[in-house]
Amino acid sequence: MIETHNLTKTYKNLVAVRNLNLQIDKGDVYGFIGPNGAGKTTTIKMLATLLKPTRGTATVCGFNIVGQSMAIRHRIGYMPDFFGVYDDMRVHEYLEFFAAAYRIRGPARKKIVDDVLELTDLRGKKQQLIQGLSRGMQQRLGLARVLLHDPEVLLLDEPASGLDPRARIEVRELLKELRNMGKTILISSHILSELAELCNKIGIIEKGELLYSGSLEDVMKEAGSSEVVILGVQGDGKAAGELLRSSPHIETIDVDEKGEIRLTLKEDAPTIGFISELLVKGGFPIVRMEQEQPDLEEVFMRVTKGIVS
Ligand SMILES: Nc1ncnc2c1ncn2[C@@H]1O[C@H](COP(=O)(O)OP(=O)(O)O)[C@@H](O)[C@H]1O
Ligand SMILES: [Mg+2]
Repeated sequence: MIETHNLTKTYKNLVAVRNLNLQIDKGDVYGFIGPNGAGKTTTIKMLATLLKPTRGTATVCGFNIVGQSMAIRHRIGYMPDFFGVYDDMRVHEYLEFFAAAYRIRGPARKKIVDDVLELTDLRGKKQQLIQGLSRGMQQRLGLARVLLHDPEVLLLDEPASGLDPRARIEVRELLKELRNMGKTILISSHILSELAELCNKIGIIEKGELLYSGSLEDVMKEAGSSEVVILGVQGDGKAAGELLRSSPHIETIDVDEKGEIRLTLKEDAPTIGFISELLVKGGFPIVRMEQEQPDLEEVFMRVTKGIVS
């Protein structure tokens, strides 16, 4: 859906994006992560056909960003990092205005506006002035706007920045819904953990260069971090721990004084079902079993260590 080949943008002496090679497939949710000034906005603007590359090429939905911009604009929904809000407009007026700009007319327009309001959970706010909405609602309204023409690809530049934790969660839930609808999404953020739950692929950019691009699973593996399983059993936790220690799939195991077991699995371990099987057979009913994801920030630091000075 999105492919770039040595995509480069320079501003005078500054190389904002250097030889970027990205591949994003249909249905991917690609997290584009990097600190401020890394080149995220510049990249997204080039893909949205609002900025011409200095060198290199890119296609979106099979169309070239140079020369086929109109075909791309019909197929993408671009949400800028900062979008002007039309303060003295009502929510439905705002959406109708943009729907009209997309040449959606008559009863179809009303229906689409209602549909996107429903999707973004803003139905009850239809008659309200935009200035009276919370930041989170304004952000959802921004997303509603880019969904009007039912784009295949969404380019979202830091949609969660500046939001309070609750609003962040609301935006994330909405993005999950869009993912489930099969949209291809490129979403940027300077906070890695914000994207982990949402994305199947990530790219890490720093000073205009892509340091890593691939699946989230691979990045975890590359950083050598494995999943932690936490267990509580009925009976003697220490004895249960000893039983588990005999398994060839377990890398490390710890039992604390309360009898809680923490273990990590070997890379080639099967799904964790074997643990419950082993324990139940051994006469230790499980009362609690949780999986803890490795700390993403830590993974991030490890992956970028030595590359970023
Ligand atoms: N219009 C511009 N003119 C000159 N330099 C710019 C311009 N836009 C961005 N830059 C510079 O390009 C680099 C990348 O910026 P940007 O793409 O906005 O990064 P990000 O979105 O990751 O924060 C930064 O060093 C920034 O200062
Ligand atoms: Mg930016």
